Amino acid sequence: MNIVLLGAPGAGKGTQATVLSKTFGIVHVASGDLFRRALEEKTELGLKARSFMEKGELVPDEVTISMVLERIRKPDCRKGVLFDGFPRTLSQAQALDSRLAGERKIVDRAVYIEVPEDELVKRLSGRWICRKCQTPYHEVSSPPAVAGRCDACGGELYQRADDKEETVRERLKVFFSQTVPIVDYYDRQGKLVRVDGNLKIDEVSAGIIKALRVESV
Ligand code: AP5
Ligand code: MG
Ligand code: ZN
Repeated sequence: MNIVLLGAPGAGKGTQATVLSKTFGIVHVASGDLFRRALEEKTELGLKARSFMEKGELVPDEVTISMVLERIRKPDCRKGVLFDGFPRTLSQAQALDSRLAGERKIVDRAVYIEVPEDELVKRLSGRWICRKCQTPYHEVSSPPAVAGRCDACGGELYQRADDKEETVRERLKVFFSQTVPIVDYYDRQGKLVRVDGNLKIDEVSAGIIKALRVESV
């Protein structure tokens, strides 16, 4: 099963992916996490992505597409993938479809997590991320058991540089202009599932799991 998680910055894609990858036994592939790891490791890919990420713009398609298509070649992706933050443009969606078609696979469902804009801004301004495993936390809605430490792996928590207010505004603008069109792309193919993301974390998970199970009958 291949599932695409769609949603604005702060909608909860990473948060839900942590739960869903366990529930469905498929690997979580997040383009933003791959870029951030490359940045930390100061690789050529990281250098290419850096200026775009700092401004809240999309990294060019050719860089992003080759990175993700290379990642999903690995054996852990054979059973299926939970895509988070990819695809984000029509070219990315088409590139993914043609790669999967070559393996007689498809994107089975695209889940659009919908959250009002003022809530997105609140979520991003209080977010902390694990430096090691990238699990997201929130100061108010999902604090870690020990301040500054990841519950899952004990790693150090930090705030993303692109979570400052002006960059968040730019990321939201980019989402509405460049990524929302792919909501239609999946809708036209009858693959789109919309879920209310403005609920508690476990309620959103339950909504997604229910929708995916019902839709796949
Ligand atoms: P990326 O890392 O993908 O960031 P994003 O799409 O902006 O999304 P976020 O990670 O900010 O939000 P999320 O939906 O994962 O929310 P989370 O679960 O953390 O991309 C970063 C950059 O990389 C891009 O700007 C671009 O430059 C580049 N890039 C990446 N992919 C690309 C691509 N395909 N093409 C081109 N460029 C690309 O939750 C947010 C907060 O809210 C957390 O604190 C969490 O604890 C809290 N929270 C979650 N759910 C709830 C809830 N239900 N109630 C209350 N709080 C909640
Ligand atoms: Mg994320
Ligand atoms: Zn961790």
